[in-house]
Amino acid sequence: MNDLIYLDHHATTPCDRRVAAVVQRMLLEDYGNASSQHRFGQSAADAVHSAAETIAQALAAQATELVFTSGATESNSLALLGVCQHPRQKRRKIVTAVTEHPAVLDPIRRLEADGFVVERIAPYPQSDPNVGQVDEEAILNAIDDQTAVVSVMLANNEIGTIQPLRRVAEKCHQVGALLHCDATQAVGRIPVSVVDLDVDLLSASAHKFYGPKGVGLLYIRQTGRRVRIRPQIEGGGQQRGLRSGTLNVPGIVGMGEALKWAVEEMDTATLRIAGLRQRLWDRLKSGIPELVLNGPSIADANTSISPTDSVLRRLHGNLNVMFPRVEGEALMTTVPTVACSSGSACSSVDPAPSHVLMAIGCNESQARSSLRFGIGRPTTEQQTDEAADRLLDAFHRLRQMV
Ligand SMILES: Cc1ncc(COP(=O)(O)O)c(C=O)c1O
Repeated sequence: MNDLIYLDHHATTPCDRRVAAVVQRMLLEDYGNASSQHRFGQSAADAVHSAAETIAQALAAQATELVFTSGATESNSLALLGVCQHPRQKRRKIVTAVTEHPAVLDPIRRLEADGFVVERIAPYPQSDPNVGQVDEEAILNAIDDQTAVVSVMLANNEIGTIQPLRRVAEKCHQVGALLHCDATQAVGRIPVSVVDLDVDLLSASAHKFYGPKGVGLLYIRQTGRRVRIRPQIEGGGQQRGLRSGTLNVPGIVGMGEALKWAVEEMDTATLRIAGLRQRLWDRLKSGIPELVLNGPSIADANTSISPTDSVLRRLHGNLNVMFPRVEGEALMTTVPTVACSSGSACSSVDPAPSHVLMAIGCNESQARSSLRFGIGRPTTEQQTDEAADRLLDAFHRLRQMV
């Protein structure tokens, strides 16, 4: 694995060693079932409770507002199917964005087949400074008193766009609609507060912030507006009946540990990652002057050092570029030692060009010529330089063949 360079931190991140140590301890020593009454069970329950407190604090939520799941795919399904299929749900409309992840789009498609009316709002195009963000006026106009739920992601997994949600939340609350936010790419990378965002439901997943795979959460607001959810998994009645099944204690405790470190080290990590992203871009661009940046400018992230700065339009580690007249897939095959992605890894079973790139105005061949890079905490300067050089070399060889 020595010459392999991992630049795909939107697909997943390696588990932090400090987190892995805690997970291992829970697997080997503190292995009780958190539902059991004996000392083993109580110790596991205490560990879950303490992880829930840590996670809640990081998100400005209450521990009782968290439901632990197997990841963001399940959290999104629980939020969307749970709200819309609740027996007392009378509203029949859903508003979402074209650029959402399949884990949001697919359950919504199912609800549409069951009779829900769905409005999918397009993003601003590549020519607009707000490229990738959902057209705010269009979404505000779509939300009405028939809307059951609005689902908009906080940070896009392909082009890293950060979506302002304040006005959307305000409009939802005016008309009594619920706001769900898929914050999977944002949690652990930029500050996320359910209070500031004013969302009713929020999904996250531990493996995106250096935690273990197979564990995530759904935040369900408990104060103010009533959020009614129909459980999607029934059985032992765990988690107040909202998500039955033995708690994944090592996963939940690992997620708490991972989020603790992600928040604690966010400022320094973000600065370093933004610098590496700029370095990768500069080196690629100097070798290929016609290279095109897909999505929002990267300049903001470099000048606005603080991730809390409201001008931030793009995740610091995200770079999505179009290589003129060379297919992304061909580049990836030519340089198998650089791990990046030609679209969303989660939808890579689907060979269709990226729906996000198409939505911001790329044509099919431009979308197919694009690659997504995700720089993460372990990435080094040497790795970004080396990755750029390998890609440049492969690009020029492929171009000669065209
Ligand atoms: C925005 C977004 N939502 C949902 C998911 C699915 O997350 P999980 O792998 O935890 O099911 C992903 C994974 O890439 C994602 O990027």
